[in-house]
Amino acid sequence: MPLKSLAREISDLSDYQVYGRVSGVLGMLVELSGLDRLLVIGSRCILIAKDERRVPCEVIGFRQGHALLLPFGSLDGIGLGCKAILASSEPSIHPSEAWLGRVVNALGEPIDGKGPLPMGPDPYKVRSSPPPAHGRQRVGGKIDLGVRAINTFLSCCQGQRMGIFAGSGVGKSVLLSMLARYTSLDVNVIGLIGERGREVQEWLEDDLGPEGLARSVVVVATSDEPPLMRRQAAYMTMALSEYFRDNGRDVLCLMDSVTRFAMSMREIGLSAGEPPASKGYTPSVFAELPQLLERAGPGVKSKGSITGLFTVLVEGDDHNEPIADAVRGILDGHIILDRAIAERNRFPAINLLRSVSRTMPGCNSDAENELVTRGRQLLSTYDNMAELIRIGAYTEGSDPVIDEAIAHNGALEAFLTQGKYEESNLEAGYEQLAAAVGLPWGQGGDPAVEFNPETDLSGQMPGTEPQNIDGTGIKT
Ligand SMILES: Nc1ncnc2c1ncn2[C@@H]1O[C@H](COP(=O)(O)OP(=O)(O)O)[C@@H](O)[C@H]1O
Ligand SMILES: [Mg+2]
Repeated sequence: MPLKSLAREISDLSDYQVYGRVSGVLGMLVELSGLDRLLVIGSRCILIAKDERRVPCEVIGFRQGHALLLPFGSLDGIGLGCKAILASSEPSIHPSEAWLGRVVNALGEPIDGKGPLPMGPDPYKVRSSPPPAHGRQRVGGKIDLGVRAINTFLSCCQGQRMGIFAGSGVGKSVLLSMLARYTSLDVNVIGLIGERGREVQEWLEDDLGPEGLARSVVVVATSDEPPLMRRQAAYMTMALSEYFRDNGRDVLCLMDSVTRFAMSMREIGLSAGEPPASKGYTPSVFAELPQLLERAGPGVKSKGSITGLFTVLVEGDDHNEPIADAVRGILDGHIILDRAIAERNRFPAINLLRSVSRTMPGCNSDAENELVTRGRQLLSTYDNMAELIRIGAYTEGSDPVIDEAIAHNGALEAFLTQGKYEESNLEAGYEQLAAAVGLPWGQGGDPAVEFNPETDLSGQMPGTEPQNIDGTGIKT
């Protein structure tokens, strides 16, 4: 095996080495001359610093006959005349199953101190194009994400892509960790992009925890890393997801956050001299977003799928900012976390009335749809009247519909509340929702089966197939 990987590395090397020289440095931008005709956008070069340190760089543009490069590391020791070697242009990785449980950086190098990463047999391009639309399979069956508000009101299908939109401190990170720990999908690939370093460590240890990490690969690029690293971390997250998908796994790809990816693209675009368009974001950002997000989804031929959940930061809780708008248009649904809900201490703070999953109600049985519709009606009636009810302007008995919404509100709020370490599954979710909205539910004649999170972690209880799969509706 070592011989094989050696042979592979040798074959990756080019037959000859060409180099250019640094002819200018401006901020993070390096100007290169001498490699003129050999470079294209995206080409990789290695700069040799005065102290022999090697700094990988990428070509992001050309100006007045010179190539413009941004570094993947610090530019300390780089000056005029430093040598720049042309490197292989197509960065690729050789992932393997042994990457599960590991934390890597944007270049696919381990950063968890657990030793080297075993290489897999096949190369995966870090930056690749999404599969062609016509060749794709359709989204698969409903999946269990382990969070009951999402499982019931915002059902997700295998290969679906959803956005989680929220301001800061509204509970994105905790929600992602719950999804990673409690989903019934095989593998998580988690990209943490642009977070503070301290937060990352805390999230890995406290929120994700060892059991969550064991079936995940985590890609990290913190806020202090150069923009190329943050951008690459997003590509790396997708490349790893593609690897597991091609291996027949159903992958849950979590990315926190797409906004920070867009910000890194903005920094790169502005450095290359692109004109800023909306909110300083350059046109290339909006061209790149679908390229990235479309890589998730059902595969072309492979059995596996990539279900993607991408967080979007909405600064100042402005849900119409350009990145949120662009992402909303690309994805198959959005989950909106609401600061007002978090403030009243209901977590996960999902505003169900403003969130949608575009595969619903198509993936539900009639009875499930009936439950969800009733739940939504009760919530929306209460929401419309909430102010009046709170100030005591509503007199009980004036409207039976409102009375009913008030009567069920406590139970629905309790249903939607889920502690960080509280597990749920699809079937238990529907049962609890039925109880909360006062509709009957359960297997023909049997009392509803009690769900015990201690003993049933699989998400599917034997003998509790949805009784309405044949469309006969709810048994009473
Ligand atoms: N499910 C939950 N149960 C209890 N508290 C929660 C829950 N989710 C979030 N919180 C609270 O909200 C705070 C902020 O959450 P966090 O996920 O770090 O926000 P964000 O990533 O959006 O900035 C947490 O420190 C925690 O106190
Ligand atoms: Mg966070």
